[in-house]
Amino acid sequence: MWFVRFITSSIGKKWIMAVSGLLLLFFLFGHIAGIATLYLGRTALQSYAEQLHSHMFFLNIFRIGLLLLCIIHFSTGLFLFYQNRKTRPIPYRISVRVATQAAGAIPVASGWASLPFAARTMPYTGIVILTFIIIHIFGFSIGPQDIPVAKTVVTLLGNPVYGLLYIFSFTVLAIHMHHGIWSLLQTLGLSHPRYTLFVTRMTTIAPVFFLIVAGGIPLLLICGVEF
Ligand code: HEM
Repeated sequence: MWFVRFITSSIGKKWIMAVSGLLLLFFLFGHIAGIATLYLGRTALQSYAEQLHSHMFFLNIFRIGLLLLCIIHFSTGLFLFYQNRKTRPIPYRISVRVATQAAGAIPVASGWASLPFAARTMPYTGIVILTFIIIHIFGFSIGPQDIPVAKTVVTLLGNPVYGLLYIFSFTVLAIHMHHGIWSLLQTLGLSHPRYTLFVTRMTTIAPVFFLIVAGGIPLLLICGVEF
């Protein structure tokens, strides 16, 4: 069947990574937009959380979808990583210089081209993000149910150890996002020179925006700001 042939091909797997990555990006920005209500005060975040929990049926369907997306994105990424290592155990040769330069690669005088840091570390930053999500879900979704969500957020992220762990994870996520957005836009067909400026801007603006809005929460809480 053409569909099975497509998803088992290399280009099919790149599409799976691109589409699942894009959907996860939508979730992330939606989630951060909700959480950012904390900047308006603790009661704003609490009423947002209560609104969300008043639609438990849809929330649970959404959670299942999110879990499936994470599994698909992570397992396909892992598969591509091992496949690439098997077929290309040594770094890129200069013959792919043009392609790698387009990805922001740094050509090396010896005739080898090294991929940028964000591209080279995608599998490792992915593992850090997965670990963060597990810790995060245990802290919040499966966390104490009798305490208001806003209080849990303020207490946990105001703890310097927890707060710094969050800031570290967000930085890693921003690095992952930087290359991920570039890669998904290429896969989805925005590789025309006309879009180069847009693609380059998006790969920087989106991660920096996320880092400021999301990272600002633990940072301000650690600094003792009251919400
Ligand atoms: C300062 C930043 C963040 C805060 C304060 C925060 C807070 C929360 C809270 C309160 C919940 C539980 C929602 C509920 O009770 O239903 C939650 C769930 C979740 N968060 Fe975050 N979050 C943050 C950043 C992130 C990031 C960066 C990711 C992804 C990498 C993420 C992924 C998730 C996931 C997957 C869930 C489970 C979905 C659910 O239970 O509905 N969060 N978060």
